[in-house]
Amino acid sequence: MAKAKLTFADIGVTVTVPAGTRIIEVSEKVGAGIVYGCRESDCGTCLTEVVSGMENLSEASIFERTTLAEKKAGPNMRLACQTLVLGDATIKPGY
Ligand code: FES
Repeated sequence: MAKAKLTFADIGVTVTVPAGTRIIEVSEKVGAGIVYGCRESDCGTCLTEVVSGMENLSEASIFERTTLAEKKAGPNMRLACQTLVLGDATIKPGY
């Protein structure tokens, strides 16, 4: 199975995960500063800034894009509860 390195810039931790892992599954385990509310792409609490590797993340669903637009999120922002890691990326909390 393909692997991906996900780096949490806020705490300086890099973990190797199977490609297809959702960010939320890792961020809580490592103690990163991303916080969660609904976990269903509704609230936008898990807004996450992608420092690098946006091309290595899953495509945003219409539901995620709607919430990102409501939050006036920039093009480098994603929702950690929805985004799958497909290759190497570096992220940090979006708030
Ligand atoms: S936790 Fe609510 S949008 Fe991700």
